[in-house]
Amino acid sequence: MPDINPNTIELVKSTAPLLKKHGKQITTRMYEIMFHNHPEVKQQFDLSSQANGSQPAKLATALFSYATHIDDLESLSSMVETIAHRHVNTHVQPEQYPIVGESLLQAIKEILGEAATEEVIAAWTQAYQALAEVFINREGQIYQEQSG
Ligand code: HEM
Repeated sequence: MPDINPNTIELVKSTAPLLKKHGKQITTRMYEIMFHNHPEVKQQFDLSSQANGSQPAKLATALFSYATHIDDLESLSSMVETIAHRHVNTHVQPEQYPIVGESLLQAIKEILGEAATEEVIAAWTQAYQALAEVFINREGQIYQEQSG
């Protein structure tokens, strides 16, 4: 499990109510930014789940769960398993994580406006990297199992 500093944990947790309220708006915007800047990524997604909002809703739920359990990642293990398997099925690669990360941070800034202080953005940058590391490691194991 990655090491996340206590200040980051506190800041990320403090954004949970904002994520609850604006999460779907943030993730909807995130996909817009990502598909605009990296159109090649679109082919991995079921675009009907974008259109009906189910994928942005799932991502918003996952981010809210993460914000509230960032200091207890064990409790998220079944969520991580489901997502990691879905990612492997859709051929997600480690080098794609920064693309999602930059799009997400940009969307958080746009939607939260003044509430997205420099400190909040720095905390989410670190928190996202930690979560990405969890997925990259788990997905690496699953890819390995499949090839073996
Ligand atoms: C920490 C970062 C990420 C989180 C929290 C996350 C979260 C999720 C969630 C909650 C789902 C839905 C799983 C389900 O069906 O129950 C999902 C699916 C998916 N994710 Fe991620 N994801 C992340 C990073 C990425 C990256 C880097 C990519 C690469 C482009 C990616 C591509 C996908 C794709 C293609 C699907 C399947 C969507 C579909 O069926 O249309 N994700 N992800």
